Amino acid sequence: MTKTHVFDVVIVGGGGAGLMAALYASQNVKTAVVSKLYPVRSHTGAAQGGIGAALGNLEEDRWEWHAYDTVKGSDYLGDQDAIEFMCEQAVQAVYDLEHYGLPFSRTKDGRIAQRPFGGHTNNETKKPVRRSCYAADRTGHMILQTLFQQCVKNETTFFNEFHVMDLIMQDGKVAGVVALELATGEIHIFRAKAVIFATGGHGRMWEITSNAYAYTGDGAAVVIRRGLPVEDMEFFQFHPTGIYKLGILITEAVRGEGGVLINDKGERFMEKYAPTIKDLASRDVVSRAIYLEVKEGRGINGSNFVYLDIRPDVVNSYAEKDGRTRPDGTPYRITTKEIADKIPDISDFCQTYLGVDPVTAPMPVQPTAHYAMGGIPTNIDGAVIQDVNGTVVPGLYAAGEGACVSVHGANRLGTNSLVDLVVFGKQAGIKAAAYAKQSDLAELPDDAEAFTHQQIQQLKTGSGKEKAAEIAQEMRAVMSDKVGVFRTEEGLRSAVEELKVLRKRFLDVRIQDSTPQFNMELLNTWELGNLLDLALITAKSALERKESRGAHAREDFNKRDDKNWMKHTLAWLKENDVELAYKPVKVTRFEPQERTY
Ligand code: FUM
Repeated sequence: MTKTHVFDVVIVGGGGAGLMAALYASQNVKTAVVSKLYPVRSHTGAAQGGIGAALGNLEEDRWEWHAYDTVKGSDYLGDQDAIEFMCEQAVQAVYDLEHYGLPFSRTKDGRIAQRPFGGHTNNETKKPVRRSCYAADRTGHMILQTLFQQCVKNETTFFNEFHVMDLIMQDGKVAGVVALELATGEIHIFRAKAVIFATGGHGRMWEITSNAYAYTGDGAAVVIRRGLPVEDMEFFQFHPTGIYKLGILITEAVRGEGGVLINDKGERFMEKYAPTIKDLASRDVVSRAIYLEVKEGRGINGSNFVYLDIRPDVVNSYAEKDGRTRPDGTPYRITTKEIADKIPDISDFCQTYLGVDPVTAPMPVQPTAHYAMGGIPTNIDGAVIQDVNGTVVPGLYAAGEGACVSVHGANRLGTNSLVDLVVFGKQAGIKAAAYAKQSDLAELPDDAEAFTHQQIQQLKTGSGKEKAAEIAQEMRAVMSDKVGVFRTEEGLRSAVEELKVLRKRFLDVRIQDSTPQFNMELLNTWELGNLLDLALITAKSALERKESRGAHAREDFNKRDDKNWMKHTLAWLKENDVELAYKPVKVTRFEPQERTY
């Protein structure tokens, strides 16, 4: 029997964006969070190095510099109205988090500590600026804990371990969502005046990724099946420093604290690729540099990784060479104790997974699929848009990594994911609640759960000729080989064709487990279907973008082409194909320039 619940605002996803939205929506209207995970297990918890905000606690900084760095980092594809809004709001957002109880690391005089991060600069000197506000290397984890406590205090209702599988629409308006309850296998309808998707990214379509197993693009997949577009899917960020072979994130804060990347010849190779800010160039630049070092035979022992070195002697000698100083003007020096205090989890991860103590040995790293710049398109209010004219879908909102507002454009700066989810999570929560207050509940269509049952039925009754695990492995191989750090026409064209075949083969998968309770095989297989849909859109959007910009690096079109490509891609899934359209980038004050670091 289907159970029905009624709320003003329903938020899908219990990570940072979802909790922030819930916190603000629940101050005004009856709000529920429906999450496939227990909220504090969400992937926001993996964000390590900090949240960027121009507090200027250790040196001069301005939100306008943060905005410029973000635009430049985005390779001029970010919408500048949204970027200005985000960077200005970031400062208050960090103080709000502090007041909610977030245990930030502190300076000696008790202010929120800040450290350098890739692409964040003093716009006048061009040198790295300390802008990342952090709680050791557990910043995302602390954000989740803090926001969850605040939501509980605000009496937000939580439905944990409920997988939303469909969006209900009536006459073009949102009417709610349909979810499967993991513990029972029962279907629930959540009627709502407004729905916010805050479902995170989809990095599990690549072999080496920093993303949690849960990152399967569920929200985006649900909305595309309701005929809505996704935006800029060709832009997916590879973080330069994942643990070799495992992909687990080694925070950029390691380089912020002075760590350096070293090749097999013992060279600090970023001096060559980014002479001014070196290891703290933006992520697309550093990932490509590692890839090129490896390609040219300078990976460690001829293999496909390089070293990230935070040993105090090494850091201190390069800091001296760079003339790096502490905020009080004395020469920069790092000690073993500071490493233990500032990046404790990294030390732990390396010892656990590699048997390497970063204080005594360098860490083997390689680029890892990390962050979706693209996602469900929204305007600055978090309202989902459905076409190139910016027409909103009444009652539908999105925020966080699963959304594309677009503040990251073609490449996100480190720390800006947390800024994005806090600022636009709040914005979506406020706007959705305001919308709900002046709207009536839409009628439910007669067959509200029909599509959910149909999806489940398909997974239970496929011919069984195909195995989900094999299809998943092949998808990851195609995406890694052909839709990775560097791309070509030939590779992308073949990726599109191979993904179409995989999507067809997926229809022949049949799950083995028929138990209703805790049927993870059912849900994991459904998630694979989501990844396949988004992988096809990613490959097709990348194939059609005939330029190199940010994280989208084409070997055959190796220059940015502002004349033809200063535009966002909107993509619709049509059966086993993808339809594309384009909308212009919003430029306010920063005209495109050549990007050097
Ligand atoms: O490197 C990091 O700590 C990751 C942060 C981010 O993705 O913003």
